[in-house]
Amino acid sequence: MTRIITIASGKGGVGKTTFVSNLAAALANFKKSVIAVDGNLTTANLGIHLGIPLYPVTLQDVLNGDARLNDALYYHPAGFTVLPADISLKKLRLANSHELVDIFYKLVGGCDFILVDSAAGLGKEALSAIEAADEMITVTNPELPALTDALKLGNMAGKYGTHNLGVVVNRVRGKKHEFSLEAVENFLEVPVLGKIPEDSEVSKALSVKKPVLIHKPMAPSSQHIMGIAARLIGEEYRPRSALGARLFSWLR
Ligand SMILES: Nc1ncnc2c1ncn2[C@@H]1O[C@H](COP(=O)(O)OP(=O)(O)OP(=O)(O)O)[C@@H](O)[C@H]1O
Ligand SMILES: [Mg+2]
Repeated sequence: MTRIITIASGKGGVGKTTFVSNLAAALANFKKSVIAVDGNLTTANLGIHLGIPLYPVTLQDVLNGDARLNDALYYHPAGFTVLPADISLKKLRLANSHELVDIFYKLVGGCDFILVDSAAGLGKEALSAIEAADEMITVTNPELPALTDALKLGNMAGKYGTHNLGVVVNRVRGKKHEFSLEAVENFLEVPVLGKIPEDSEVSKALSVKKPVLIHKPMAPSSQHIMGIAARLIGEEYRPRSALGARLFSWLR
């Protein structure tokens, strides 16, 4: 059965696109077939994160009836399929939830996961992506502004009957003033699916337009994303450190 999960956030810039591209790569690592959809049509950037900003045929072309869905699906070397959105102003348009449901309906059955990179906030675009999906994961930072916005998002998911799977706490620096994972859970009243530490390898990976999981598989961020992917599919995975992995291979 295909799981359709929208990755959303109340506040912008918290790491949704980073998480989607890496979660897709992580699930592919666990031999799951994944289609990553850029549901952020107005400020699309999944393609930029994946090193292919200018796809010839995009989601907008399909929505406009100018191309077939199959022509807008691209295989990424990290082992998953991408349905990108166009970054040009020329093709600026929103997708309503019915249009997205139509697209998902055609994709369902052909993969294990459809991951939708949503626009931030509670605008029409983000809400369409939440309404069209069966499940939602919220990305937040461990700070109050991001958390209060995430709380509103949880309420909207409830309104649309989209199952709120839980929250991923990104850019954790382990500082005293940050919300702890337990405090996040209490505040949002949903499970924390995992944390991703603040990691300079994430922006280095972005600069070479690769998921960090591909660029630096042993980076702390990559290892924690593997842990979250494992949890999603009910498998065990203990994040390893680069030093631990070196020791392990030496012992072997
Ligand atoms: N764990 C992390 N450690 C360090 N930097 C990070 C981490 N996660 C994300 N970033 C950086 O934060 C910035 C924003 O990330 P990203 O584009 O994924 O956010 P977003 O939520 O998709 O933004 P938008 O709301 O604009 O779509 C990027 O420059 C990315 O490299
Ligand atoms: Mg984004």
